[in-house]
Amino acid sequence: MPDPKSKNLTWHEGQVGRTEREQQLGQRGCSIWLTGLSGSGKSTLAVAAEKALHDRGRLTYILDGDNIRQGLNSNLGFSPQDRTENIRRIGEVGKLFTDSGVIVFSSFISPYRADRDQVRAIMADGDFIEAYVAASLETCEGRDVKGLYAKARAGEIPEFTGISAPYEEPEQPELVIDTDGQSVDESVAVLIEYLEKNGYLSA
Ligand code: ADX
Repeated sequence: MPDPKSKNLTWHEGQVGRTEREQQLGQRGCSIWLTGLSGSGKSTLAVAAEKALHDRGRLTYILDGDNIRQGLNSNLGFSPQDRTENIRRIGEVGKLFTDSGVIVFSSFISPYRADRDQVRAIMADGDFIEAYVAASLETCEGRDVKGLYAKARAGEIPEFTGISAPYEEPEQPELVIDTDGQSVDESVAVLIEYLEKNGYLSA
């Protein structure tokens, strides 16, 4: 745990714990951390996988960079420091959701390996599933769904990941999801198979 600025704090336990919540839900909470370039398919995959799980009666939630940056993280930009703080906060939010028993999809570029590793470090073993949503820069730029790569190339967006800011690929992710080479349905199947095989969906 980081050293909090506030002192004289006492941790309060509830009468209902994670185990009871997970028993009630019939699933294991976890944070599926989708990392990858803008346009790699993180949000698309999160939305499709969430729907598939919901249809099977699972409780899920999506934390998405574009959404969270309009609320909780509206005071953050794209400097390295702000991105680190963005990921730190979402790591903490994801940890709370995971403790509640929910299957969370965290969809953030999260370009820095150290920031992702720090989120992994605050979570229990198996709670953090790093899924590298892998698509080449050429593919992402070719898709340019939001038109941001064109703006970045034109110098209208500073510090744009892949163009003028770095992306550090995961070294040992639990999953690599190749959205260059497979369909959304195939990617969803890979994700769900991982959850099934590793006991996240057992009652
Ligand atoms: S992160 O790097 O801090 O993890 P996050 O996932 O929250 O980024 O937000 C990325 C989204 O913000 C992109 O999908 C894009 O829509 C938008 N965006 C705006 N400016 C930038 C930028 N400079 N670099 C990357 N994404 C940007």
